[in-house]
Amino acid sequence: MSRSPIPLVDSLGRRHNNLRISVTDRCNIRCFYCMPEQVQFLPRAELLTFEEIVRFVRAAAALGVNKLRLTGGEPLVRAHLSELIRQLADIPEINDIALTTNGVLLAEQAADLKEAGLQRLNISLDGLREETFQRIARREGLQRVLEGIQVAQQLGFEKIRLNAVAIAGITEEEIVPLGEFARHQQLELRFIEFMPLDAEGNWQQDQVLSGATIRGCLEKEFGALVPANRKDASQPAVDYVFADGGGRIGFINPVTQPFCSDCNRLRITAEGKIRNCLFSTTEWDAREVIRRGGEDHELEALLRDCIAAKKPGHGIDSDEFVRPQRAMYEIGG
Ligand code: 5AD
Ligand code: SF4
Repeated sequence: MSRSPIPLVDSLGRRHNNLRISVTDRCNIRCFYCMPEQVQFLPRAELLTFEEIVRFVRAAAALGVNKLRLTGGEPLVRAHLSELIRQLADIPEINDIALTTNGVLLAEQAADLKEAGLQRLNISLDGLREETFQRIARREGLQRVLEGIQVAQQLGFEKIRLNAVAIAGITEEEIVPLGEFARHQQLELRFIEFMPLDAEGNWQQDQVLSGATIRGCLEKEFGALVPANRKDASQPAVDYVFADGGGRIGFINPVTQPFCSDCNRLRITAEGKIRNCLFSTTEWDAREVIRRGGEDHELEALLRDCIAAKKPGHGIDSDEFVRPQRAMYEIGG
């Protein structure tokens, strides 16, 4: 394949090297911020096959994509996921493969995933009480998630991060216990503000528990948090370390402190639609090109169109904000 020298740079100079791949819209739990209680999943024939995903990633890699994150739905419900990871890890340009998981199936799959070439894991953990878990996930499962975290730690992944979505009225009581857990386990913890990507359209601004509020709670309990050096400006999290040396905490504040100006992320949905933002209202159909036998230059043209159309930011707080039609599980986190 000929290598194009021109990377995926948009009109604001943002260079896109980071691709998030949703491998399924299915999930084994039902977090209300992401999915409806009653959900109709895509028929399996709609999902990109592993071969199609690899074909797309090769085309994107030729344009400078070198970091991948697998998401869902819940990626671990996709059968033989480690086989896909193995194939992606074989693409020469790809030097980082990460996975975002709810952790429920992690204990049984972590060893295979690591062996296949997975380097980094983000595990969702919004709280440590079963009651909170069930209120959010509308299913049981906290114990299995905690087991999954333990197994992953024993296997020695390069990096394991805990992601906690913060929701006013639900997770305030979880902030300090999560901080304690992360400090004790020496795991990085990130709090994420609740975004308007729930399926039922119930998101309200007053349900956003801001990063600043959470930081205040943590500092009261554990002492000062000091801004940490940022290695990568495109990272959405603002990181802090505890002054007493007790670990690292990040805040992803998409609502109160949008980080769109440094965004380098591109997404492909489980059925092969390319998106330039979580909040995109337009999509580019890579599956159509692949399934009709289109050539790589057609995929390249789609990617370039998609990047060229990227907006400066999501504008959640603007009067003109339009929610995307898809909810989180249909996009990929
Ligand atoms: N707001 C913020 N974060 C969300 N996630 C899912 N839905 C939302 C939302 N509406 C998070 C999950 C997981 C990742 C896939 O995205 O907790 O960490
Ligand atoms: Fe499943 Fe993740 Fe959505 Fe929760 S946030 S329902 S774990 S896909």
